[in-house]
Amino acid sequence: MFGRRVGLMLNAWSRAVVREEVDWAEVAAGSLLRTAVGHWRDDADGWFAAAYERLPETARVNPLSRDFQWVQSWMESIGGEPIDWFCGVGSAWTLPFERGKAEGEVRSLLAALHETGRLTRQEAVSMLPVLALDVQSGQTVLDMCASPGSKTTQIAEHLGDSGVVVANEVVRGRVNMLVSNVQRHRSATVVIVNHDARHLPNVPETGYDRILVDVPCTGTGTTRKNPDVWSRWKPNDGRSMQKLQIDILARAAKIVKPGGRIVYSTCSLDPIENEAVVAAVMAEFPDLRLLPAAGTVPKIEASEGFTDWPILDDDCSI
Ligand SMILES: C[S@@+](CC[C@H](N)C(=O)[O-])C[C@H]1O[C@@H](n2cnc3c(N)ncnc32)[C@H](O)[C@@H]1O
Repeated sequence: MFGRRVGLMLNAWSRAVVREEVDWAEVAAGSLLRTAVGHWRDDADGWFAAAYERLPETARVNPLSRDFQWVQSWMESIGGEPIDWFCGVGSAWTLPFERGKAEGEVRSLLAALHETGRLTRQEAVSMLPVLALDVQSGQTVLDMCASPGSKTTQIAEHLGDSGVVVANEVVRGRVNMLVSNVQRHRSATVVIVNHDARHLPNVPETGYDRILVDVPCTGTGTTRKNPDVWSRWKPNDGRSMQKLQIDILARAAKIVKPGGRIVYSTCSLDPIENEAVVAAVMAEFPDLRLLPAAGTVPKIEASEGFTDWPILDDDCSI
């Protein structure tokens, strides 16, 4: 009923009203985020120039699927290119169209292959944290903030048929997404739990071999996917997330096995949510050792993290 009324209204106005596209370049140029990035990065202009282009469709092909070879050939046949830095199990591909813009038969088959777990659509950059985690078959892995679960399924692919990944999500509505994702992928090694990551129990008592801490964040690095971040972001947003991020990472530090590995990841550019969080937890847990990012994922350029960072006022001045 509602849909029909809107339809009638649009018909009535169609001759008079032209829907205006938001000019994100203009919004971005005058945004607080643009100013903040100038404080955070030496290459702010280069970053700004690259921060608009829409993302291409990218996907991982599931090595546990019997149709693995066939799916790879199909990816090639539709013009897919293997992602050259992807060094995980299975394979990862960039497709020759924008994210969500496949058409016709390709669109239907892509959806079917995703729904049946033969492939997983996932942004390329989101594949990096699991590669850095260096998961080996047979290990006990904790994914502390797991929904919707693209990294959970990637971890499961590394485990193969041995080991376990405990995938945790605190928001009940988002647990449903996690369950559907794990079910479509048919991951045999995944256990899903619904807990606040800050209070996850120390099970197993010996600690986890690997822990992924992919925390909630302000998403300032997602402008290519979520352009509204340009207008939404405020300098205080990072600070308001930081305590939760520190508490979740500190819990990981308590329940990781000696000699185990934690990867802390965000999709934010704000050092308050990144280096400042890691520094706070390192100070609290002197047994932790920071691994150099360079070489963690071969072919991915990495630089040293910041050791100090600006505290920005509401208008982004220091
Ligand atoms: C960046 S998303 C995770 C994305 C996911 N790792 C993936 O790759 O599909 C962060 C998730 O953390 C969840 N979250 C927020 N607070 C949490 C908490 N205290 N404990 C556990 N999860 C939490 C959010 O609901 C959200 O689903």
